[in-house]
Amino acid sequence: MSIINKAAAIGGGVIGAGWVARLLLNGIDVSIFDPDPEASRKVGEVMKGARRAYKQMLPDGLPKEGKLTFAKTIAEAVADADFIQESVPERLDLKHKVLAEIDQHAPANAIVGSSTSGIKPTDMQVAMKKHPERLVVGHPFNPVYLLPLVEIVGGEQTFPEAIEVAKELYASIGMKPVVVRKEIEAFVGDRLLEAAWREALWLVKDGICTVEELDDIMRYSFGLRWAQMGMFQVYRVAGGEAGMRHFMAQFGPCLKWPWTKLMDVPEFNDELVDLIATQSDEQAHGLSIRELERIRDDNLVAIMEALSQQNKGKGWGAGALHKDYTRQLAKLAARKTPAKPVAKAKAAKPAKKAEKPAKAEKPIKAGKPAKADKAKKSKKKG
Ligand SMILES: NC(=O)c1ccc[n+]([C@@H]2O[C@H](COP(=O)([O-])OP(=O)(O)OC[C@H]3O[C@@H](n4cnc5c(N)ncnc54)[C@H](O)[C@@H]3O)[C@@H](O)[C@H]2O)c1
Repeated sequence: MSIINKAAAIGGGVIGAGWVARLLLNGIDVSIFDPDPEASRKVGEVMKGARRAYKQMLPDGLPKEGKLTFAKTIAEAVADADFIQESVPERLDLKHKVLAEIDQHAPANAIVGSSTSGIKPTDMQVAMKKHPERLVVGHPFNPVYLLPLVEIVGGEQTFPEAIEVAKELYASIGMKPVVVRKEIEAFVGDRLLEAAWREALWLVKDGICTVEELDDIMRYSFGLRWAQMGMFQVYRVAGGEAGMRHFMAQFGPCLKWPWTKLMDVPEFNDELVDLIATQSDEQAHGLSIRELERIRDDNLVAIMEALSQQNKGKGWGAGALHKDYTRQLAKLAARKTPAKPVAKAKAAKPAKKAEKPAKAEKPIKAGKPAKADKAKKSKKKG
C-alpha cells in the first residue's frame, strides 16, 4: 500500500496529469497547481483515460479514488504534502522559480521529485535555499499511470536518505524505481531514446524510409524483444550457445564501420518538420490523439497482462511487477472503508520520514551524515 499521505502536483500537463492519475487511483489525495485555465479539463481527460485502463486491470472494481483539489498557488498546494512532484515545462529558469517556491512552503521533510527529462538535479537544487537535500529527479515515462519505470537521480546536495525514501514512495504506488548511479544530463532512458530518434530523423530525412515504415521496422521486430528482455539480455541470446562473448566478438567490430550518423544532428528546418509531420498525419489515418492514447493504453495493459502470466505464472519483467501492483490495488479496492493515512503508512513499513508526518518540520537528515551534508557544513565553515 502507498506510504504517501498527501501528495502535491505542480504542473498538470501530459506528465503532471499522469502523476495525478496514478496517485488518485492509489487512493491518495492530491493537491494540484497549474496556472493554465484549461488545466482542470485537461487533467479530467487524462483521468478518464487512466480510469478506463485501470478498469481493464481490475475488473472487480477500482480502489476508492483520492480527492483532487485545485490550489490557487504553489504555497497552498504543497502546504501539507509529504510528496511533491514538479512537472512544469523543461526550462531551467522556470524549474528554479517553481522549486524555490515549493522549497519555501513545503514541510521540511517532504520529498520533492522533479519529472525533468534531462536537467541535472545539481543544476536545479541551487534554487532551493532551505532544503535542497530533499530534491531528487523522478523521471517517469508517458503514460505515467501505466508505465512503471521511474529513474531516480540525486544531485550533489541530495541526501542518500532522500533517495531511499523516494525509492519507497515511488515503489509504493506500483512503480519500478531505478537509481541512476552517476548524475548525467538526460539520465539513461533519454540518452538511449535520443540516440534512436537522431538516427530515425536521418533515415526519414534521407528518404531511406517513411515514418510509418520506420515504426513498422521497430514494432514488428526488436520493439517486441525490448519490451520483455531489454537490450543486453536479448543480445546474450542472439549470441547463440556461446552467449554474450560470441555476440560481442561477431558484432563489436561493426561498430567501427560507418553505419550510423549518431554524432550528427539533422537541421531542424521547416522542410524536415513538414516532412515528418505530414508523414505522421498520414500514418495516423485520421485517428485523434485521444483515440491513439486509448489504443496505446489498451496495448500496454495487454502486454503487461500477458507478461504477468509468463515464467510459470510468476510473471516476467514488467509483467511480474504488474501482477504485484494489480494485487495491491485489488486489496485496496476490497477494503470497505478507506484506511486512514497513518494506518496505511504503518501497514506498508514505510520509510522513517513518511511514517512520522507529525514531525513535518524536521528536515530529511541521514543518520550517518551524508557526503553532501559534510560538504555543505565544511563549505559553511570555510
Ligand atoms: N512529455 C513527455 O513525454 C515527458 C516524459 C517524461 C518527462 N517529461 C518532463 O515532464 C515535465 C513536464 O512536461 P510535459 O510534457 O507534461 O509538459 P506540458 O507542456 O504538457 O505540461 C506542463 C504544464 O506545466 C504548467 N505550468 C507552466 N508554468 C507553471 C508554473 N509556474 N507552475 C505550475 N505549472 C506550470 C503548464 O500550464 C502545463 O500544464 C518536463 O520537465 C518534461 O521534460 C516529459
